[in-house]
Amino acid sequence: MQIVIFDHEQQVADTAAQWIETLVNNKKSPILGLATGSTPIKLYQQLIRRYQEKKLTFKSTTSFNLDEYLGIDATNSQSYRHFMNENLFNHIDIDNTHTYLPTCAQGQNPREQGLAYEEKIKQLGGIDLQILGIGANGHIGFNEPTSSLASRTRIKTLSQQTLADNSRLFNNNEFQPTLAMTMGIATILDARYVLLMATGENKAKAVKDMITGPLSAICPASALQMHENAIILLDKTAASQLPDQEYYQWANAQNIKINQAFGLYHNY
Ligand code: F6R
Repeated sequence: MQIVIFDHEQQVADTAAQWIETLVNNKKSPILGLATGSTPIKLYQQLIRRYQEKKLTFKSTTSFNLDEYLGIDATNSQSYRHFMNENLFNHIDIDNTHTYLPTCAQGQNPREQGLAYEEKIKQLGGIDLQILGIGANGHIGFNEPTSSLASRTRIKTLSQQTLADNSRLFNNNEFQPTLAMTMGIATILDARYVLLMATGENKAKAVKDMITGPLSAICPASALQMHENAIILLDKTAASQLPDQEYYQWANAQNIKINQAFGLYHNY
């Protein structure tokens, strides 16, 4: 794991945007894995700005989102399709037919839909860079605690904590889905690079468990310990429970020097 700790949330977003810009400008048909939630909003704003400044184009980019609610359709303003359109896709030049979410409409078979999503990712060559947030309970995607570390795209029941955490986004009396389709942990681990962003004090315990805890289904994000190219971008509040912070800062300074001397190594 490469752990980078920043003073400010904006630096987390800017650094993640730089990773995406490098990928999009260096690969002919880049495949991005995307996330919803509060954490990536500043990243998406930064990508829109860079697109408007003509620093990058998404014309040949394909995207796969981590998850989508079950029981509401794409036109619902609470759907993750709506979130992605509003916060990113409508403001850049990505071809909308090349943006995928793991959906399962009424009447469709979730097993078949999950398999088809996995197949589509494989068929297009696999995800180059997967963006992740982390739940306060350590979830990635909607892989809640005790999710199989070998899981693939499927239905998950959201935990009480996730429902409570996300209830802030729903009005009183508005239907809040309790089920979602989500990429599995094995799906996420297949990405060539994973970049997890965490900001805010309420993520500090999950971040500590992910990095220093045992590899365990009880903290699904700990599975990233098994990934060859996992980059963890934190603001200092999210990093506040981490031991050895000086070492991470020191190692990161060395990495910058190594990259300057030998060039960035991206095995996209
Ligand atoms: C979003 C997702 C979730 C969020 C996580 C953090 O597509 O899969 O795992 O990344 O719940 O959410 P925020 O960023 O709202 O704290």
